[in-house]
Amino acid sequence: MAAELVVVANRLPVDRVELPDGESTWRTSPGGLVSAIEPVLRANDGIWLGWPGGTDTELEPFEIDGLNLVPLSMSQAEIEGHYEGMSNGTLWPLYHDLVAKPAFHRDWWNAYQKVNRRFAEKVAELAAEGATVWVHDYQLQLVPAMLRELRPDLKIGFYLHIPFPPAELFQQLPWRRQILEGLLGADLVGFQLPEAAANFRRLVNHRVGHPTMGQDVILPDGRKVRAAAYPISIDTQGYETLARTPAVEERAKELREALGNPRKVFLGVDRLDYTKGIYARLKAFGELMEDGHFDVEDAVFVQVAVPSREAVEEYIALRDEVEMLVGRLNGDLGKIGQPAIHYLHSSQPREEMAALYRMADIMVVTPYRDGMNLVAKEYVATRVDDDGALVLSEFAGAAEELRQAWLINPYDLNGMKAALVEAYHADEAELRRRMRAMRATITRHDVQAWAKSFMTDLAGPELPTGL
Ligand code: G6P
Repeated sequence: MAAELVVVANRLPVDRVELPDGESTWRTSPGGLVSAIEPVLRANDGIWLGWPGGTDTELEPFEIDGLNLVPLSMSQAEIEGHYEGMSNGTLWPLYHDLVAKPAFHRDWWNAYQKVNRRFAEKVAELAAEGATVWVHDYQLQLVPAMLRELRPDLKIGFYLHIPFPPAELFQQLPWRRQILEGLLGADLVGFQLPEAAANFRRLVNHRVGHPTMGQDVILPDGRKVRAAAYPISIDTQGYETLARTPAVEERAKELREALGNPRKVFLGVDRLDYTKGIYARLKAFGELMEDGHFDVEDAVFVQVAVPSREAVEEYIALRDEVEMLVGRLNGDLGKIGQPAIHYLHSSQPREEMAALYRMADIMVVTPYRDGMNLVAKEYVATRVDDDGALVLSEFAGAAEELRQAWLINPYDLNGMKAALVEAYHADEAELRRRMRAMRATITRHDVQAWAKSFMTDLAGPELPTGL
């Protein structure tokens, strides 16, 4: 296999799941990355290298829905050290403003290096001469430099889907220099926001000593590495089309009826992650009911919490906290057959998501820190009638673009409550004005536009992207 485009991400876009009868099947994996990259890969007939989840070792490359997927297996020790440890116990909380406390363990770092090297070696095997390689996210920050050493002929792009922290936080990392040097193996390092790119350039300058010029870092051998912002988006048209299908419209009505046709439905959809502010938003909603702003005939909250990183300690604790709160609020505020919070701990298919978005009057997105938050954009894309309200944390990357949302500070519970009440009472004209503007933004700036601008800056006009 010699591919002209190789996408490398810690995860494949599908997860291997064991069925009760011992057989196994593939299921779309959670998270924004998959929905963002899939269209690019299709358009370029490329291959995707990633971990399929689990510890299987004998998996061959395969094709699913026209995507060419190459699985890279991990041992139990690698999963614990690289994935649960260094990626999600160290880097994830460190890059998200220390919402949880990062742990620094040398054996996690060793596993991280080892897995990054295996990824780099595999790409070196798969990529055609002069091919373009697009490496994704915080789990693989060493791959660009490792790969450049093996294959200097390749064009290497790196994109970080999560925030890149300011120097005060980043420099806690015992391996800060190695991470910066790993990223500098790329020709182009992309971030969600300009501030993140600036953080990176400043750190490279202070910690590694390379000068910068505008958006470029100048290496001692004269090579330039561009570090710039490319805010990610969604397949806006795809979501809109899905939202308009009769099946989705019908399902949205059905869902609303199943909820007892309350006046307004609030909705939260997140991976069950401590960065997402799920606890705080449910608490705010519960207080509004306790304060008498509305009761279960007026409003219900639907919270979809997609299971995530379930072996990592903080995630186990978070699940207990959220579920205890849901139980308490329903006990205090619900009636027979009418809970105040409808809580699902599961991942839902795309069609069901579209129906939930269409059904919901107020979408509540309240992360303490988030690279972008594609759920916010998906909600806007499905509001084909220009109605519905978005309450959005100012600490989500999406807040830079979706200025017409009700922007809130998730640390300020009263502020959040006030915004929820305002969104609840907003009249049609107000909703329409805000939603129209946000829809125009994501129509102009969809995932195709995002991929095109990154690829154009990476490869110039030579790349046959088909975009
Ligand atoms: C976020 C990250 C992705 C990750 C996804 C799901 O969107 O940016 O890199 O794949 O979460 O998390 P998981 O740990 O299940 O891969």
